[in-house]
Amino acid sequence: MFHLLKLELMPIYHTLGSIPSKRHTIFRKADGSLYAEELVSTHGFSSAYSLVYHCHPPTIVKEIREPYDVSPKIARDRHLKHTSLKGFKVAPKADYLESRTPILVNADLHISLAAPQRSMTDYFYKNSQADEVVFVHEGKGSLLTGYGCLPFGPGDYLVIPRGTIYQMHFEEINNRLFIVESFDPILTPKRYRNEFGQLMEHSPYCERDIRKPQDLQTFDQKGDFEVRIKKQGLIYPYVYGSHPFDFVGWDGYHYPWALSIHDFMPITGKLHQPPPIHQTFETHAFVLCSFCPRMYDYHPQAIPAPYNHSNVDSDEVLYYVDGDFMSRKSVERGQITLHPGGIPHGPHPGTVEKSIGQTKTDELAVMIDPFRPLMLTEEALAIEDPDYYKSWMEN
Ligand SMILES: [Fe+2]
Repeated sequence: MFHLLKLELMPIYHTLGSIPSKRHTIFRKADGSLYAEELVSTHGFSSAYSLVYHCHPPTIVKEIREPYDVSPKIARDRHLKHTSLKGFKVAPKADYLESRTPILVNADLHISLAAPQRSMTDYFYKNSQADEVVFVHEGKGSLLTGYGCLPFGPGDYLVIPRGTIYQMHFEEINNRLFIVESFDPILTPKRYRNEFGQLMEHSPYCERDIRKPQDLQTFDQKGDFEVRIKKQGLIYPYVYGSHPFDFVGWDGYHYPWALSIHDFMPITGKLHQPPPIHQTFETHAFVLCSFCPRMYDYHPQAIPAPYNHSNVDSDEVLYYVDGDFMSRKSVERGQITLHPGGIPHGPHPGTVEKSIGQTKTDELAVMIDPFRPLMLTEEALAIEDPDYYKSWMEN
């Protein structure tokens, strides 16, 4: 049925600003000159796209400065050890791009932590190869793009499709971000969508929870505008002759959007429900799940804590956001555990017994299960708890 089943990124049509009634037709400014139309398309011309109308062509390159390398520095490429990282030990840095610290990576995704202190005001950024999911653990502000503005706060997933030029503006200096770059498109789970792409009744979130760009402001400006473009591990500082946010209008399916983890309505059951019920996004290479406060299982003999499990063919990354995590003995905010595929893991000693009879949990965490093994970077080793793998031993 057309490309309905291939819908990727955001299956909601959205438009802001002024656009002509027919695409690819004459559309003039007040002074009689033409607006510059740009098609922003994915998978060649076969998947989600938007049509953008610029005040000036998006092609006016004045200078390309020397690129610099930001590729992850791999320190442990092969391993088979349960690992714990203290994410909040990553030191804050003033600049957004400098603060992004890759910690767990493979050919499909890069997971980074960041604690930026300053808004981006003197440059713009574009990831030309990866969709980005920026999970806002701490901090408030706005994601600014040509498509409009997305205000954000703690608990928001900002989904920024590849090719989007953006700026992060923060309201204060204390910000903690968990960032996933996915070289495969970020999708909403296929099993929650009908043949029209609409999120179905059993989905834990629906279109009402998806926040789209708002308040389109047109920056009709010429000058020198630096856009740092990421491709193949390098950042190319481009100087453009027109403001990147010079959209007078746009429409389509390719644009940044936001979803709050607090708007994810957990599915619960009479007995312990498996991790897929927490699934929030999917790609062909990994899934992303949200563990949210919820009622526990209601069978009188139920054990709410999870069973031991073997991730036969995926690694498992948990990023702890808030609350007590029922199956772990001691976790702190910002902590990351990596349980590699190939060996089992499970609840810590005592936590199974302790969970019996409890009625609810206030845990909040983000989980990523990649299908290919993750490698650890130098920065990950610097924040590693070396004895974590022994933490299942009885005291
Ligand atoms: Fe697990």
